[in-house]
Amino acid sequence: MVELKNINSLYHLNNGVTIPCVGYGTFRTPADVAEQAVADAIDVGYRLIDTAAVYGNEEAVGRGIKDSGINRHRLFVTSKLWNDHRGYDKAKQALDETLERLQMDYLDLYLIHWPANEKQFGARAAEINAETWRAMEEAYHEGKIRALGVSNFMPHHIIELMKTAEVAPAVDQIEVHPGWPHVEEVKYLQAHNILVEGWAPLGGQGAEVMTNPTILQLAEKYDKTPAQLCLRWLIQRGVLPLPKSVHKERMVQNTQLFDFEISDEDMQKITALPNLGGQCADPDAVDF
Ligand SMILES: NC(=O)c1ccc[n+]([C@@H]2O[C@H](COP(=O)([O-])OP(=O)(O)OC[C@H]3O[C@@H](n4cnc5c(N)ncnc54)[C@H](OP(=O)(O)O)[C@@H]3O)[C@@H](O)[C@H]2O)c1
Repeated sequence: MVELKNINSLYHLNNGVTIPCVGYGTFRTPADVAEQAVADAIDVGYRLIDTAAVYGNEEAVGRGIKDSGINRHRLFVTSKLWNDHRGYDKAKQALDETLERLQMDYLDLYLIHWPANEKQFGARAAEINAETWRAMEEAYHEGKIRALGVSNFMPHHIIELMKTAEVAPAVDQIEVHPGWPHVEEVKYLQAHNILVEGWAPLGGQGAEVMTNPTILQLAEKYDKTPAQLCLRWLIQRGVLPLPKSVHKERMVQNTQLFDFEISDEDMQKITALPNLGGQCADPDAVDF
């Protein structure tokens, strides 16, 4: 187990690339806010920045990174291939467009945002994911991407992908927060040396995670905020949280996670909480 001392303590991915143990999320951060928000996030210490083509803010995120004055090589930048660019040719195009918008010549991590599923694509779903992955592998070998990953892939999607993949995913980014712990999936991924990133670690917008009485009571017990308690619960499970905030004081708060430890008993209490809202989507049931 790696000893994590601050948000930029590093995990080693399965290809040897290192990644900070906490990242900064940009979902629902509008383009006109994202530039300043990302510059602020880097200013308060974040080095892992998570964006996606579908967020519509890659250009602003790229500008925020430039504004920060921090050398690109000291940052870890992730983006994701959106669902309308699946398949070999479109995936290649998607990556080039993302790099162009970010004004970068490589990404640290590129993810398939959602697996093509059988509900929409029937028996072709697995082949579509395999073809998308093949394009990403080529870009990886060309040096345009330092690590490859997936998002919202459940174990059975990974098993299917590995039938044709040459490069195993280094990361799977899935929804993880109190009330949606994804216990079995996290166990499977970690056993297969795939780092789990947790999206919506605070439950996302509108969830009841941070007003849940157990969360409030435990936050008080540890003299921490509900957000800090949630993020620490992910960290102690070996899951990399990606909190999003456009407020600088919250960005800072969301980094102060390394001066307390949740007991095993309290970890289990949090893991056992019922569904408290969030997106909680089944990747095999979505139709986007
Ligand atoms: N791969 C995927 O399919 C996927 C899906 C969703 C998200 N993601 C990634 O994961 C990141 C995080 O998920 P998310 O943005 O949905 O949700 P989140 O980080 O769980 O929650 C963000 C919400 O919590 C608020 N917040 C942040 N810090 C707080 C604090 N200390 N105290 C109180 N409220 C706080 C934010 O408000 P303010 O901004 O107003 O502070 C915002 O409304 C995204 O930004 C994105 O990068 C990936």
